[in-house]
Amino acid sequence: MLATIQRIVDNHGRNATRLVQILREVQDALGWLAPDTLTALATALGLTHAQVESTAGFYHFFHTRPQGDYRVLFSDNITDRMLGSADLMQALCKDLWLEPGHVSEDGLVSVGTTSCTGLCDQGPAVLVNYRALAHMTPSTIRQMAQLIRARVPLDQWPADWFVVQDNIRRRDIVLNAELAPGAPLAAARERGADALLNEIEHAGLRGRGGAGFSTATKWRACRAAPGSTHYVVCNADEGEPGTFKDRVLLTTRFDLLLDGMGVAALAVGASHGLIYLRGEYRYLLPQLEAQLVQRRQQGLLGADVLGPGCSFDVEIHLGAGAYICGEESALIESLEGKPGRPRIRPPFPVTHGYLGQPTTVNNVETLIVAALVAVHGGAWLRAIGTPVSSGTKVLSVSGDVARPGIYEYPFGVRIAEVLADAGAVQPLMVTTAGAAGSCLAADAFGRRIAFEDVPTGGSIMVFNDSRDVFDVARNFVHFFAHESCGFCTPCRVGTAVNARLMDKLATDHGSPYDLDEMERMHQLMQGASHCGLGNTATLALRDLLHTFRPAFERRLHAQSYEPAFDLDAALSQARRMTRRDDADAHLGDNHSSHTAAPATLPESQP
Ligand SMILES: Cc1cc2nc3c(=O)[nH]c(=O)nc-3n(C[C@H](O)[C@H](O)[C@H](O)COP(=O)(O)O)c2cc1C
Ligand code: SF4
Repeated sequence: MLATIQRIVDNHGRNATRLVQILREVQDALGWLAPDTLTALATALGLTHAQVESTAGFYHFFHTRPQGDYRVLFSDNITDRMLGSADLMQALCKDLWLEPGHVSEDGLVSVGTTSCTGLCDQGPAVLVNYRALAHMTPSTIRQMAQLIRARVPLDQWPADWFVVQDNIRRRDIVLNAELAPGAPLAAARERGADALLNEIEHAGLRGRGGAGFSTATKWRACRAAPGSTHYVVCNADEGEPGTFKDRVLLTTRFDLLLDGMGVAALAVGASHGLIYLRGEYRYLLPQLEAQLVQRRQQGLLGADVLGPGCSFDVEIHLGAGAYICGEESALIESLEGKPGRPRIRPPFPVTHGYLGQPTTVNNVETLIVAALVAVHGGAWLRAIGTPVSSGTKVLSVSGDVARPGIYEYPFGVRIAEVLADAGAVQPLMVTTAGAAGSCLAADAFGRRIAFEDVPTGGSIMVFNDSRDVFDVARNFVHFFAHESCGFCTPCRVGTAVNARLMDKLATDHGSPYDLDEMERMHQLMQGASHCGLGNTATLALRDLLHTFRPAFERRLHAQSYEPAFDLDAALSQARRMTRRDDADAHLGDNHSSHTAAPATLPESQP
């Protein structure tokens, strides 16, 4: 064990900021992260045991208890559930004589769930030892149980199980781009940093990661910040349920992304780039690493690529299954080998980011569009989309549609058009920002995808009128309870309370009080939470509670369910009570509680 740890730590230059990568490699080699493994790592890296333990304990993909040789994780996103993932998991567990969440007695296999794996267009999906398998069926699950029992190595499983499709259904400027590798970098060099920044500003480029912040403003602030080294970070964490467009951009437009990172580096004065790739996309790593090697051989990464004496290279860091690491300051903490807890801001990453140095964090799609602007200019992008939202948006469309997949549209497209193209039949509602944003009902399908109307990070999940909206809300609420990093009380408590309330409703023990309580949690968490996760965790629930109230009221405990206040019933009951009071008074037994008219109003019990 010690020799393995020494070798891995040495390969990482005994650099403690690489702890997340080191933990992954050590876990791969030893199976799990035992207490003495963590102690040995702490000694080798000059950290305390508590520091190593807190990082190891933070990430869902690190195991501080033994796991099975085969670790099967079912994607628990609502779209996978709609395709039957829960039944498939039960079937696998039954075949393997196993409880979900447990390791088999012989240590052979463990089965559990994980949040969205980014394969919503081809679910139900599973990860087996972090390799992705799509389109699972009862038959493939039966075969999987046999293969596991026979201890067949993954490389000998049917190859077609591991095929992940791109499912590109509609292309525009990003998905049609056919630029030669390095062309955007050459164009940026020719323009020079100042002119390049002017073009990015003129383009009106805004971040595609969700917040829609001006890219030129961010890059200028980063460029102006003093520091010994500036960094460009590509946010490829893509953890939002229902989002998978960055996966497809990484597999089909990786050269353009690296060009975009080079363009950003030239603009901000960086020499180093980092890609934070979500742990669920680990199976992409070998292919992406190979492309980095190829670019170095082509002279498109490394010395002088940004001009004489200006080098630029990129490395890939792998996440370990924590949605919060998509938040840029949590992502930077993770890059530095720490638990992914959002930082207190200010200072912002543009001045104090990775290793305390000026850092721009940008989404995959933003960097790709920046590469296109470097070649075609700002006016070109401005001419596409709407006056406020220039360019296109790449959407991940999943759920109740005939053609799930990737759709790229100029900003301004109506939701109805997206639904028609994807083949939605009798859609009841769509989510426009995964679990963390608005849910729109049919009367809003005329609205447009644009920063000024319906902003989106790209996750469009469609639900038709056969779906129970309550199940959707419950899935989202559990997602946030699971993914809250626990740093601040409003989010830690609020997400947990909401999950418990929804479970109570699901078992028919809820009351109207519980619905009010969820509204109250929404008010409490808004603004009081430390980061965007807590501030957005209740948006979908609030929308669903308002728009689809009967779906929740149906779940109320039969005796406490009064759909609306019925004045006539209340008055006649009050009259009956008054008559009984009169009778009681006549009998000399006049308790004040009998006259309490409010007792006739719909009651609720916490
Ligand atoms: C909880 C949470 C998760 C996030 N996840 C992602 C993500 O997966 N990908 C992403 O690009 N941005 C994500 N963001 C937004 C980032 O913090 C950041 O704004 C973005 O990477 C900036 O890039 P852009 O300006 O190109 O949009 C997330 C934010 C929050 C609060
Ligand atoms: S809002 Fe939630 S995720 Fe964000 S810091 Fe607080 S507990 Fe962590």
